Amino acid sequence: MTSILIVDSAATGDSSVSRRLTGELEKALSGRGPVRIVRRDVGAVPVPHLTAETTPAIRGAPAETGAAREALALSDELIAELKSADLVVIGAPMYNFGMASTLKAWFDHVLRAGITFRYSEAGPEGLVRGKKAIVIESRAGLYSSGPSAPMDSQEPHLRTLLAFMGLDDVAFVRAERLAFGPEAAAASIAGAVDELRRLAAGELPLAA
Ligand SMILES: Cc1cc2nc3c(=O)[nH]c(=O)nc-3n(C[C@H](O)[C@H](O)[C@H](O)COP(=O)(O)O)c2cc1C
Repeated sequence: MTSILIVDSAATGDSSVSRRLTGELEKALSGRGPVRIVRRDVGAVPVPHLTAETTPAIRGAPAETGAAREALALSDELIAELKSADLVVIGAPMYNFGMASTLKAWFDHVLRAGITFRYSEAGPEGLVRGKKAIVIESRAGLYSSGPSAPMDSQEPHLRTLLAFMGLDDVAFVRAERLAFGPEAAAASIAGAVDELRRLAAGELPLAA
């Protein structure tokens, strides 16, 4: 059975485009074989930001306070969800040219030295290997080409964070031009849904 982790991060509730698209992918994957799906919605239930009290525990120091122990327990839970997934799906809205701060907070809890990556004499090495990832990006503007491409601080950052943990088999699906009028938005969303269905079909061997 294929295990799938779906991380949503939109702050826009039911009107979220990225959440709608992760839902479309979930539907498409569920129809293709036995799958176990874990949903983690850090947009609806945010992962707290790191603080002076919680950061040391996340960085390997003993957890000395209740808040530190809670942060460490949450971090362990998020990492367990990640490590047990064969396929990681991330719903990633663009807010102010980057990822949602809730998604960044998820990464802040998931990137842990010695657990999801390590440093050696050869440099950094990712420890979350043998998985696929699909990142669904929703954006008002157009960044995959054209004059705004250099303003995209979202996709390169996501690619770096995932690759740092060893996740380098990543497909990016973009719903862009969402603010370029209803027709452009509808066409972009329909194109993303098609691409997601195609990717879901490609995951069939995983789900067998
Ligand atoms: C706080 C906020 C900031 C945004 N910043 C950008 C931006 O910098 N560039 C852009 O193209 N769209 C921006 N948008 C538009 C969103 O990318 C767009 O609405 C997209 O659908 C968000 O995904 P969601 O619907 O899943 O929330 C922003 C939206 C919000 C709510």
